[in-house]
Amino acid sequence: MKMKKDIETRIEELLRQLTLEEKIAMIHGDGLFQSGAVERLGIPPLKMSDGPMGVRNEFRRSEWINSGTTDDYVTYLPSNSALAATWNRELAYETGRVLGKEARGRGKDIILAPGINIKRSPLCGRNFEYMSEDPKLVEEMAVPLIKGIQENDVAACVKHFAVNNQETERLWVDTYVDERPLREIYLPGFKAAVEQAETHTLMGAYNRFRGEHCCHSKLLLSEILRKEWGFDGAVISDWGGVHDTKEAAESGLDLEMSVTPNFDEYYLANPLLKAIQDGEHGDGKEKIEESDIDEKVRNILRTMLRLHMLGEDRENRKTGTYNTTEHREAVLNAARESLILLKNEDKRLPISPKGLKKLAVIGQNAEMIHSNGGGSAEIKALYEISPLMGLKTKLGGNVEVNYAKGYYIPTRQEQKELNWQQHSLERKKELTKEELAEALRKQKLAEEESRRQGQILLEEAVALAKEVDEVILIGGLNHDYDVEGRDRKDMLLPYNQDALIEEVLKVNPNAVVVIVAGSPIQMAWQDRAKAIVWSWYAGMEGGNALAEVLLGDVNPSGKLPETIPQKLEDSPAHKFGEFGTKETVTYKEGLYVGYRYFDTYGVEPAFCFGHGLSYTEFAYKNLEVSVREDNFSAKEADPDALVTVKVTVENTGAVDGAEAVQIYVADKEVSLERPVHELKGFQKVFLKAGEEKEVTITLHKNAFGFYNPERKCFQAESGEFEIQAASSSRDIRLRKTIQLKREYRYQ
Ligand code: BGC
Repeated sequence: MKMKKDIETRIEELLRQLTLEEKIAMIHGDGLFQSGAVERLGIPPLKMSDGPMGVRNEFRRSEWINSGTTDDYVTYLPSNSALAATWNRELAYETGRVLGKEARGRGKDIILAPGINIKRSPLCGRNFEYMSEDPKLVEEMAVPLIKGIQENDVAACVKHFAVNNQETERLWVDTYVDERPLREIYLPGFKAAVEQAETHTLMGAYNRFRGEHCCHSKLLLSEILRKEWGFDGAVISDWGGVHDTKEAAESGLDLEMSVTPNFDEYYLANPLLKAIQDGEHGDGKEKIEESDIDEKVRNILRTMLRLHMLGEDRENRKTGTYNTTEHREAVLNAARESLILLKNEDKRLPISPKGLKKLAVIGQNAEMIHSNGGGSAEIKALYEISPLMGLKTKLGGNVEVNYAKGYYIPTRQEQKELNWQQHSLERKKELTKEELAEALRKQKLAEEESRRQGQILLEEAVALAKEVDEVILIGGLNHDYDVEGRDRKDMLLPYNQDALIEEVLKVNPNAVVVIVAGSPIQMAWQDRAKAIVWSWYAGMEGGNALAEVLLGDVNPSGKLPETIPQKLEDSPAHKFGEFGTKETVTYKEGLYVGYRYFDTYGVEPAFCFGHGLSYTEFAYKNLEVSVREDNFSAKEADPDALVTVKVTVENTGAVDGAEAVQIYVADKEVSLERPVHELKGFQKVFLKAGEEKEVTITLHKNAFGFYNPERKCFQAESGEFEIQAASSSRDIRLRKTIQLKREYRYQ
């Protein structure tokens, strides 16, 4: 409390000494990644860096040009999707600690991470930066991640607030979402980041929401974030997300950042100064109050004080560091638990190195480096172990490992020629008749060349697959597809990989398929492949982790944080909703995002939410559910527990393993429509072969409610609920019915 008072007193003292010009300097970019400083009063700039997968390289202050030095190589972290797939809060916390420590070590004040937007469509280009389709999983993983970051006197910047679920037309698209899905699906992660993790900063999104730009949305920033959730840290615009001086000045936004070096001309720079001065001296119509600016400066100063950036307090600030062995171990642990065994017929996996003489590794994702791509999430990784290197270093010299590219990735020039329509659209340039004919001619040539090259590589791979003991095919997407600024056109595997997989499976039905990707793909060959492993962009140690799983040193324990639909048309955002090119996008699927749709409407996905196999098996038994509605007791470990769920899980197989036990709640007597069940708790449990453990998961009242738009609050009605203990959203092992006698309302 005293600390808080000190902070507020110091803020007011500083505010009194600042001139209007100095205040304005503090609320807009004075570099591509820093705010303006006030040296006279010892107020430094806020130094920022992307992003979720590590601390990005240094840029020159006012140019998008790498500083060109070698001291900005860093630890490359698993993507947020990978982290969510671990279902392990401790790993989220440890990974956050690494990111925060590295950011501080690199001299940053704010790390522009994590990205926690809901994965609404399989096609969103930035899905790999986001965690899940489910708000509970997002919340539970984001909170420890943010805490880990901020432990290092670095601010997390949770992005992108809010309802930013596509890249197409990202600067302008106007999203319409009803109040219930807004409150139940799209906002809970951000609310938890503010209320539970106490994030110091938040980033406004590029898109519009109900007609307002998110970066100056009164509804999102002033009403919901500030008033309802009580956020008193700093709101930073996405880079170039501000479009109006007055709206931005009067909203809950604090700091305008952008992508161009004309810093004085930003909306919250000279135009703001002029508006205030004209307002005072002119007719006063467009008057902007200086008190609005003061509020922004307060939020920025508060953030700086919390980070120990001002005065003598700087001595107490943590120093951070980067590229330590400890960091590399932490990201290896996270990578190991992020890998998902989707299918394992005939116990194809693990592959035993004993007796293995000849192994074929097929597919360019076996050797591709991903850390340097994706848009703002790209980083300069100190190193990145590819799957091929991981396998080779594990197997050593006695196994002959043969690599074949398998598919052809068109060169940059060919890609341009293949996608000329998109390029000319992006440049907003109409082609003349002659230019059009030339573009079509080049497109045809590029297509033919890609087909020809692809066929050579495919045949070479198939020939190799015939003559080896084992085949591991490593394909998927890359950052030409999982990328900022662009959505995919379909869910298909690019580069003719489906044909490659089918042909390889024909000559070697035991081939193991590994998909490296950040968002779902269609798997036409799902029934024919005996073993399928899902790997994400899993960080610098990803290749080692994958090799350990394939060769059985590590038992996989990742579970899908999102549904993989059989085909795009099954995905609710595409079946009911709108997505993509339109200027206005209405989320007509409402609450039915991900498994909420598939499970309620009985649509069979390729792989369901929460699915992930192990090299061992787990039995669930003794589900006990107790309700304690009347005497909440502060003595209890969890005094807010309304319902306590206990379930015993036994490892019935021969190897050690881990299982993410999932608790779904089904509201059986609800007065409004609700999805058939929703994830409300989970716990990952580690069990030696033959071992059993009792897992306890407590549910608070907020596990039972839905948002009631008329009452403007959440409401848990009295009546019957089913508690499901499950291994995935479609593999419910045990159920128990309970009654709530009272009704609960909460925010
Ligand atoms: C992205 C943000 C990123 C910012 C700064 C924007 O284009 O949307 O996620 O933090 O650039 O690089």
